[in-house]
Amino acid sequence: MSALTVTYALLYYAAAAILVAGVLARIWRYARTPQPLKIPVPPAPTTRGGVVLRMLAEVTLFRSLYRSNKWIWLFGWTFHVALALVLARHLRYFTEPVWSWVELAQPFGVYAGLAMLAGLAGLWARRFLVDRVRYISSPSDHLMLALLVAIAASGLAMKYVAHTDIVALKAFFLGLIAFDWRPLPADPPLLIHLALVAVLMIVFPVSKLLHAPGVFFSPSLNQVDDARERRHAAGWSARLAPPGR
Ligand code: HEM
Repeated sequence: MSALTVTYALLYYAAAAILVAGVLARIWRYARTPQPLKIPVPPAPTTRGGVVLRMLAEVTLFRSLYRSNKWIWLFGWTFHVALALVLARHLRYFTEPVWSWVELAQPFGVYAGLAMLAGLAGLWARRFLVDRVRYISSPSDHLMLALLVAIAASGLAMKYVAHTDIVALKAFFLGLIAFDWRPLPADPPLLIHLALVAVLMIVFPVSKLLHAPGVFFSPSLNQVDDARERRHAAGWSARLAPPGR
């Protein structure tokens, strides 16, 4: 077994453990954070079912972003939908046999790679071109965008410039899952792509990308607008007697 294979195998076990444990720890923290106030942004649903529909529209259509800024919505939504298609296309490297819907997603996945880059380019351009946004952009905002651009560019380089051995790559990842290691192809674009993806997995639990699980815990979106029907109690206020007693 080459030193390269061992290095990437260990890197991926560590990255996967950090990603899963880190994101679970964050979700645990979000779930236990009290929501002391009733603050659903109006017009807000008055039933639980309504809240489910509201969250669905938020995570699939980015509705509140659409209302606030059409350009950011266009680039942000394009990037996220393209990312979902790219990741769906990638499932073929980790599953045997490949599910039929993953096979169907293959041709779209390639265009999605280009759309992902276009979306990222728009989101990044606004951090330079819009004064207000440039002023509040921190190095980490730029670094996360650079990381995602580099992952997409190295992926597209494998598709259009220097192909890698997909069969051997798949054997490597299925081997990692089964704890039966297989050699990793040593092509530079693949090694760069995989190293950057591992960096993404490691920084994800401490990065701004946590908005993905975090949106579900946003009180302004997930609360039912029933302040007049039910007393809202959270944290220390839950231990107090209801008013009027
Ligand atoms: C361990 C995880 C990953 C592996 C093994 C992997 C592997 C690959 C390979 C082999 C290709 C070339 C496909 C071809 O030649 O047909 C590719 C392309 C690509 N990858 Fe990844 N990748 C991984 C994770 C990611 C992630 C997390 C992203 C995005 C954040 C990403 C974005 C892309 C893009 C945009 C392309 C080009 C479009 C496409 O072929 O779908 N990859 N990847």
